[in-house]
Amino acid sequence: MSKNIIIAIDGPAGSGKSTAAKNLAQKLGFTYLDTGAMYRTITYLSLRAGVVDNRDEVIKIAQNVKLRLKTDNGLTRVFANDEELTEQIRTPEVNSKVSEVSIIPEVRFEMVKIQKALGGSCNIVAEGRDVTTVVYPNADIKIFLTASIDERANRRFKEYKAKNSEISFEEVKANLEKRDKIDSGRKVSPLRKADDAIVFDNTGFTPNEDLDYLFEKIKEVLSIK
Ligand code: DC
Repeated sequence: MSKNIIIAIDGPAGSGKSTAAKNLAQKLGFTYLDTGAMYRTITYLSLRAGVVDNRDEVIKIAQNVKLRLKTDNGLTRVFANDEELTEQIRTPEVNSKVSEVSIIPEVRFEMVKIQKALGGSCNIVAEGRDVTTVVYPNADIKIFLTASIDERANRRFKEYKAKNSEISFEEVKANLEKRDKIDSGRKVSPLRKADDAIVFDNTGFTPNEDLDYLFEKIKEVLSIK
């Protein structure tokens, strides 16, 4: 049996990783893996149970939850113990706590275990903060996607506006800066560029331009016609 192909994309919040990874997966017929959705789910469940600041309880949730991710028309649907939490994991409350939850090594251990198993079972496009460095160090292609802070904040701000959220641009930007700092500064699996990753700064690019650029790169590496 031939080896599964793994395309790994890391980058900060708002860099367009999710859209790019989803589009690539669709174009290539690969499975899309949104690793951030997994950390978000643990965060949401911990918030709902009122234990988000209790490390041991958060770890218990991560160890016992049955997570299932499903991509439907470009949307990652998330199920925890068969309950759908697709909408609930993308709120400002979850955003403001997710970096603290994902700093816990035992939580990461559980999530990485699931991610590695998936990578061994099918062709995937995975995105997150440590998929190029820790989860799939032997990925066939590694991409580090980034964009300026103002561009990233503006993208997130527009997403909130579309959902009628009252949050201001300044709040969105401050939240992103805080998450960037925690995600890149943490001891366990910090966000960093893998030595062999292709860096792509997509400031000013549209999602379609991102896809074209990345698809060309992937064709080069995988020699797809
Ligand atoms: O990609 P995202 O914004 O949905 O990710 C949410 C948070 O989850 C992010 O701020 C840090 C954490 N995360 C992580 O620590 N490791 C990953 N592989 C993916 C996300």
